[in-house]
Amino acid sequence: MTVTESLTVRDNRTGTEYDVPIIDGTIRAADIGKIKAADDAPGLAVYDPGFVNTASCRSSVTFIDGDKGILEYRGYPIEQLAESSNFLEVAYLLVHGELPSREEFETWVHEITYHTFVHENIKGFMEGFRYDAHPMGMLMASIGAMSTFYPDARNIAEADNRHLQVVRLIAKMPTLGAWSFRHAQGKPYVYPDNDLSYTANFLSMLFKMSEPKYVADERIVKALDTLFILHADHEQNASANAVRSVGSTQVDPYSSVAAGIGALYGPLHGGANEAVLRMLKRIGSVDNIPAFIEGVKNGNERLMGFGHRVYKNYDPRAKIIKKACDDVFEVTGVNPLLRVAQELEKIALEDEYFVSRRLYPNVDFYSGLIYEALQFPPEMFTVLFAIGRTPGWLAQWLELTQDKEQKIARPKQIYTGDRGLTFVPAEQRWA
Ligand code: CMC
Repeated sequence: MTVTESLTVRDNRTGTEYDVPIIDGTIRAADIGKIKAADDAPGLAVYDPGFVNTASCRSSVTFIDGDKGILEYRGYPIEQLAESSNFLEVAYLLVHGELPSREEFETWVHEITYHTFVHENIKGFMEGFRYDAHPMGMLMASIGAMSTFYPDARNIAEADNRHLQVVRLIAKMPTLGAWSFRHAQGKPYVYPDNDLSYTANFLSMLFKMSEPKYVADERIVKALDTLFILHADHEQNASANAVRSVGSTQVDPYSSVAAGIGALYGPLHGGANEAVLRMLKRIGSVDNIPAFIEGVKNGNERLMGFGHRVYKNYDPRAKIIKKACDDVFEVTGVNPLLRVAQELEKIALEDEYFVSRRLYPNVDFYSGLIYEALQFPPEMFTVLFAIGRTPGWLAQWLELTQDKEQKIARPKQIYTGDRGLTFVPAEQRWA
């Protein structure tokens, strides 16, 4: 690679100048490490809590321009995919890097459909969770446990084997997600119906009772499928980073994806959709919004569903979700909290605090309203996010396994503790 751009760094401690190559708008942290105050001194390091300005990989999966509000999977704008594609096609695109031919798509759908069942023993241990277990905890644990059912998954060096695990994970995620929902409701778990589409089958496993076949309203199927598409990937977010970080140890993909689910569970990440709904319920009516906003501005709490590390403009996914609300509410009736959300958005977008910090609604601001209208309790919202995000996690994981530049993820630290203390045994210290 010919490097034509560089950065000259002068170390004022020594007067030495260093030429640091600039490649793809980045400098190599290893090049910074060559800067030393003395030959035997440690190299200079970069301090970046939360990786705010550190690229951890090269990736061709997802492109985001946060200033312009652009999101593309493998180069295709999210708006076009949400409008005209479907979740399994998008999953194929993310995992394989290009759109499928008709034959490739049919094979892919067949493969995913025929891996939706899980081993009966998985059902057995899921039944062992407490009656009020959070479905995200159940999902994380059961996906992690799947590594014990598929020990072959440890063979990550072989392409066919990786593909099989990818198919299993995308296929079984809705089954486990639906069962974690049924568990909380004390209802029997419903087996997959492989005559149905991916999303229609998920709805059947969630809501089927004694009827021989569960037929979901097509508009609901389409809306949920669109939500899955919108959540399918988002480049190096906290959960993708967790998947990659754990995956860098060369562990099996179930363990890596379980780590991703753990990261997603948090209220600053995927758990925000659950937090948004609880917040809207607490605000309750439009009259209470000004007092709530004052509390946020005074630092008492955050306006959940607002703000993003990357988007400093309207999150393009939030725009699409806002539209999907209308389709769902046509079937379910309008969620009364919609008015609170709309008014909150309006006030926040005009308020100096939010404007100056460039805080806009993110993907989680409106999604919870749809989920609630579809009869999901708030604890289930992040499970829906996890099902949508699975192809993205796997695309990131596959990319990692093929990337020769990747190493085990192991950040540096700035040590701030004591050194060289002399240990005094307990009986002497306590004497
Ligand atoms: N409400 C009020 N103030 C906020 C908010 C918010 N939602 N988000 C950021 N700020 C303020 C923050 O207090 C800080 O102000 P100051 O400069 O005065 O200290 C400034 O904006 C910058 O915030 P930050 O925390 O440094 O930004 P970040 O990039 O580290 O955090 C974020 C991004 C998404 C964690 C944050 O905006 C947030 O906590 N939002 C609410 C939770 C949420 O909706 N999360 C979902 C994110 S999108 C989907 C996903 O990733 O799962």
